[in-house]
Amino acid sequence: MIRAKCSSFAVLVTLLSAATAQLTVHAVAQPRTGSVRLERVTASHPLPNGIELRSATAIIQITALRDDVLRMRVGTSGQLPEDASWAVLPASRTATTNVTSESTGATVGFKTAKLHVAIHKDPFGINVTDSAGHVIIQDLPSRAIEFHGASFRVYMKSPEDEHYFGLGDKPGPLDRRSEAFTDWNTDAFGWQQSTDPIYKSIPWFITFRKGVCAGIFLDNTFRSSFEFNKEYRDAYSFGSEGGPLDFYLVYGPEPKQVLENWAWLVGTTPMPPMWALGYQQSRYSYYPEAEVKRIVGRLRSERIPADVIWLDIDFQYKNWPFTVDPERFPTFEQMIKDLRAEHIRTVVITDLHIADQPLAHYKPFDEGIAGDHFVKNPDGSIYEGVVWPGKAVFPDFTHKPSRDWWGTLYADFVKKGVAGFWNDMNEPAVFLVPSKTMPDDTQHRIEEPGFTTRTTNHLEVHNIFGLENSRGTFEGLLKLQPNLRPFVMTRASFAGGHRYAATWTGDNSSTWDHLRQTTPQIVNLGLSGFAMTGADVGGFAGSPQSELLTRWIEVAAFHPIDRDHTATGTNPQEPWENGTAEDVSLRRRYIEERYRLMPYLYTTTEEMSRTGLPIMRPLFMEFPHGAADGGPIDLSTGNAFMVGSDLLVAQSPYPDEVDDYAVALPPSTWYDYWTGSRIDPTSGRKGIDNAAISQPEVHIHRTLETLPIFVRAGSVIPEQPLVQSTEEQPQGPLTLRVYPPTTFGAECSGSLYLDDGISYDFKKGDFLRVNFACRLSAQGLIVTVAPREGTFQPWWKLLSIEVYGAAKPYTSASVTLLDHPAASPVTTNFDAEHHRVTALVSDDPKGVQLQLTY
Ligand code: GLC
Repeated sequence: MIRAKCSSFAVLVTLLSAATAQLTVHAVAQPRTGSVRLERVTASHPLPNGIELRSATAIIQITALRDDVLRMRVGTSGQLPEDASWAVLPASRTATTNVTSESTGATVGFKTAKLHVAIHKDPFGINVTDSAGHVIIQDLPSRAIEFHGASFRVYMKSPEDEHYFGLGDKPGPLDRRSEAFTDWNTDAFGWQQSTDPIYKSIPWFITFRKGVCAGIFLDNTFRSSFEFNKEYRDAYSFGSEGGPLDFYLVYGPEPKQVLENWAWLVGTTPMPPMWALGYQQSRYSYYPEAEVKRIVGRLRSERIPADVIWLDIDFQYKNWPFTVDPERFPTFEQMIKDLRAEHIRTVVITDLHIADQPLAHYKPFDEGIAGDHFVKNPDGSIYEGVVWPGKAVFPDFTHKPSRDWWGTLYADFVKKGVAGFWNDMNEPAVFLVPSKTMPDDTQHRIEEPGFTTRTTNHLEVHNIFGLENSRGTFEGLLKLQPNLRPFVMTRASFAGGHRYAATWTGDNSSTWDHLRQTTPQIVNLGLSGFAMTGADVGGFAGSPQSELLTRWIEVAAFHPIDRDHTATGTNPQEPWENGTAEDVSLRRRYIEERYRLMPYLYTTTEEMSRTGLPIMRPLFMEFPHGAADGGPIDLSTGNAFMVGSDLLVAQSPYPDEVDDYAVALPPSTWYDYWTGSRIDPTSGRKGIDNAAISQPEVHIHRTLETLPIFVRAGSVIPEQPLVQSTEEQPQGPLTLRVYPPTTFGAECSGSLYLDDGISYDFKKGDFLRVNFACRLSAQGLIVTVAPREGTFQPWWKLLSIEVYGAAKPYTSASVTLLDHPAASPVTTNFDAEHHRVTALVSDDPKGVQLQLTY
């Protein structure tokens, strides 16, 4: 455990008014050009919810929004920055809790029920600890906060065993330690592991070391940067080129609490339509109509379950957003209907760059001009940039009337039955200019509740352009169809953007390295709030080898979004292409498994939407004390992940290697998902450095057929009979896969959530929630299905209860209705190959219990 006394560090904070910066920079000789030291706290006064401090012209306010969420704001010229946010929910931003002042001779500060904040007065320093004495943040001696003109930087100490996660879609390892990043949304076609920045800016990261996990959110939309152990090996820092110094500290101490508190701050992902969890087929681009129908026909004739087909830019007339090419798609509306009859939804691209076509009766352009909705140049003319349609203009998304107008553009497509929308190129991407985006001095209006109405330049708005674009789409769709869950996919975004859109990792490549990269990238996006995420399956740039495509389809079956997509000019990449009959049948089998697991996936999705916990999780989230010393499991070299709390997907750390590999299992008993057998891990292997590996490991013999999946003992996984789309009603029983605990008296649990999959009726109680439990004793196993909650009617009448890890049949079995004590015998079936005993029982709304006796 790491402890530090706040008096044991001395900190010099450099604060300089933006207004006086240039004057003072040259007047005072300091270690860094442009720095002026603030020596001490010159005044302080307690607030009911925190403390306000002064130091020369600077004002510093630290407040508690809750016992476990703090906010720190610094104004350099006697005034705090504007109290407004694009990311933080207004109710959370303005929440307060009373604190108790705490001071010593050397410090002033306060405590909440969970945290202590101590400000060292002379020299200035800040230290936040929890009640167990863990240091949460502690600034760097002699360098805490620096202002250089309009820019600032905050330095914090980085203990040796602290690890960093989050920051959205940044490529590279899961652990951000020893890395550095910039937030400036960028169209990064063909990005590689070392490419930074790419599409999104999520200035939120998690700090985690033994015993304590917390998060920091820099609420600033300007170009920002983060570095961990680069400038100083024992420090991390973050800063921005402009805008407010306004950051939040979110305490855990467990990772799940940090994520739930982050969701409290910026919101959760709304419940997506169930079809968005189905398999999705895309490419740049399917056209004409006949080709779209051929692809859908083939999905069905190949019996590859699927829910969605995507239309990329070529379905449009000359790439003009919100048009349809009449030659390629002469009966567009009928086509959408025909696809729906096949249970396929259509998602179309609607890029934000409106074609600059004044004389073409092009509604988005004409209406946009008439309503004054486009971004302007400093001289008041409309800004034009070249993108897919050629010369284009850009809606002013931070101007609420323009954003609302954008939302109305969807009316036609919605009327024609288009189910979902894709907001691409919204960094915003601009061709033919070195910056790949708008000039810094482009003029954007801010007209938004909570903000002072004003005009600002692109530097402030760039990173939120995609956020507000996807928000306009989401809110517009909700206005058009208030009781239908919108599906929007965005490429660029900012913190909080998950409230409006799912996302993907952009233009990856068809390489093994990019397959490997999917795990850290999707996991870090989930840790940043974006839980509904996928990567282009098979890779976007280039064409995958057949084995790569097979393995990618296998693992993507366990990703939150499963969309096969590729660039123009590449080889066909649908599951039946580019492979042997064995490849195709394996690809089909994994997509089928996703559909069998849909009850579990949908239940996990509802948990995401309610709590903020991601669907795809790092192992440390489920096992925060999983290492032998009680600290977090080091995931930096692995490639395994959890789906929900119970399934561990153990993809090879190097998917293209031919060797067998070992997976370190977190502390629990585990079952093999495919064979049903209990895992007997080995320990004592020596690592590459000859040190003994302390965690038990499972040895995996690599085959193309099997992506290893392990199930946590003590879980109940609901599954359904195979369907070809989420819209098809499953026929047969709901399966409950019960993975018993291994010690007598231990319990297991699981749950199922279901609703109509498309509307918001669940908010009025039209959902179904069932909790499952089991209990192991010397006599046998009892499985309980609790009474149903909610009014939604299930599709099944029967439950197939499968108990795994069975070495022999049970001697007897009986079923009891929970509201009726009489037990009736039930037959069971023992399957030695799958180590399973199955009982088929009638389900009952009031709950049932199965008793298996040895
Ligand atoms: C961008 C997108 C890609 C899309 C292409 C054409 O590169 O990232 O997914 O296919 O544009 O719209």
